[in-house]
Amino acid sequence: MIIKNQILELKRELGNKIIIPAHHYEDPQIVEVSEFVGDSYKLAVDCAKTDAEFIVFCGVYFMAEAADILSQSNQKVIMPNLSAGCPMADQINRKQAEKAVKLIQKRTPKQIAPVVYMNSYADIKSFCGKQDGSVCTSSNASEIIDYYLKQDKAVFFTPDFNLGINTAHKLGLADNEIVKVEQDMEINDSYDPAKVKMYIWDGFCHVHKVFTVQNIIELRSQYENIKIIVHPECDRGVVNNSDISGSTQKIYNEIKNSPAGSVWGVGTEYNFVKRIADEFPDKTILPLKKSICHNMAKITSEKLLTSLGSINAHIKEGLELKNVVSVDEEDKENAARALNKMIEIVES
Ligand code: 13P
Ligand code: SF4
Repeated sequence: MIIKNQILELKRELGNKIIIPAHHYEDPQIVEVSEFVGDSYKLAVDCAKTDAEFIVFCGVYFMAEAADILSQSNQKVIMPNLSAGCPMADQINRKQAEKAVKLIQKRTPKQIAPVVYMNSYADIKSFCGKQDGSVCTSSNASEIIDYYLKQDKAVFFTPDFNLGINTAHKLGLADNEIVKVEQDMEINDSYDPAKVKMYIWDGFCHVHKVFTVQNIIELRSQYENIKIIVHPECDRGVVNNSDISGSTQKIYNEIKNSPAGSVWGVGTEYNFVKRIADEFPDKTILPLKKSICHNMAKITSEKLLTSLGSINAHIKEGLELKNVVSVDEEDKENAARALNKMIEIVES
């Protein structure tokens, strides 16, 4: 409580110079003091609209980078803890992405469009922008991928295999139209390149990988009217056996808008599921399993308070600003193309 009061006091002092966006997986104490909370798409778009001089980003590194890429030149993005990364985003680097696209392009008569999941670092987004591709998030992956398929291009999707395959199936692609690209670049060459529409990198989220079809079967056997909602980073079998799949914002909205007495089984990060369960006590909200994103949890109230203190000291005493997220200028320009392409497709 003392820390919360200190945060609120500093917020009052800093006024509209700062804004605190928080991802849905953040601790409720962080969400409580934030200006807005959302999935990675909503956060990127809302951050791009703010005029605050300091964006104190409560989420993981790739999300803060996206805020920096879309920010104006007079704005600074600060992260309370720079070590809050995303192991999925670490599963491909720019060299690997370039090599994979070259390798695939050699074998296929189609033009390749790279589509990179938001959960990737700025250099990959920059590569994607340079190649006239687009970023996507779990809230719009099907729209973005379909945009390129309609142009008869083949999509190279990275890094999350599950989001890729779940989206491919949602779009009605057959198994022989999808090729998995292993992280060692061993591509099974028994496929017919003229048929393939999607090449999907073999990355994954360890937080979502743990959910199983058995978890769903058990919950369904205990609660007759339960609805299962999961994030599309879950395995294909889990998504296929759920009632709804979607981004964290979609999960939040579906549960919020359901009638009192509803029963939900939720397949995503546990701190988020617990927060929704506490927020809607008139509904029964159960996790498929308790799986925590320890990177999101690295953003603590103590660290947020330190960040606000550092901004205050910077403004008042000219002290060095700590934990600034700053994307290299060239990457910024190209990554912005890929991010803006996503926003253009979604908003059109
Ligand atoms: P959302 O865009 O759905 O919030 O997903 C981000 C994420 O990292 C899920 O693991
Ligand atoms: Fe990355 Fe998974 Fe954490 Fe999302 S839940 S930030 S994909 S590690």
